[in-house]
Amino acid sequence: MTMISPSETSVSAADLRQVMSHYLTGVTIVTVMKPDGTPYGLTVNSFNSVSLDPPLILWSLDNKSSQLSLFSNAAGFAVNIMAADQSQLCRRFASQEDDRFLGIDWVLGACEQPLISNALAHIECRPWQIYAGGDHTIFVGEVISAQHFADRPPAAFFKGQLGQYES
Ligand SMILES: Cc1cc2nc3c(=O)[nH]c(=O)nc-3n(C[C@H](O)[C@H](O)[C@H](O)COP(=O)(O)O)c2cc1C
Repeated sequence: MTMISPSETSVSAADLRQVMSHYLTGVTIVTVMKPDGTPYGLTVNSFNSVSLDPPLILWSLDNKSSQLSLFSNAAGFAVNIMAADQSQLCRRFASQEDDRFLGIDWVLGACEQPLISNALAHIECRPWQIYAGGDHTIFVGEVISAQHFADRPPAAFFKGQLGQYES
């Protein structure tokens, strides 16, 4: 086995981003209710399951996000797993558009967080732990409620492109 010394392991941000883009992920919109009663959401592909017992999931937020304190202080958040036919919605929730929820059907879930209608699945969480993760903050949520709906192809993210996973 060849040992690599730490000084040889440095990878540039651009290289790591390029390599990671080859890891196909699903696409979610993570939502939260603002204190003023308006919904907020952003497109997220860092979502992953962590634990079944207790039921835990995670996602990470860029520390540059203007909504870092919103999520850090929220009583919970929801993960909406998006379908391929909702790719346009995923683009909108990653854009600078002001009112991302304009014209979108959504409801308040059991944990009082916004749930996007017609998503493939909803996962409602209360905060479990928040970790520092370099230039991102990792939110681990305890799953309070989880439901999946119609079996449509999922949205996928691969090599920087939103698309559809072909089985
Ligand atoms: C497919 C995809 C996945 C993304 N995943 C994340 C993520 O995991 N964490 C994150 O902080 N931003 C992620 N983003 C970027 C955010 O969606 C985007 O920066 C956000 O909408 C900015 O919202 P703001 O202007 O309200 O801060 C992703 C964008 C796309 C298109």
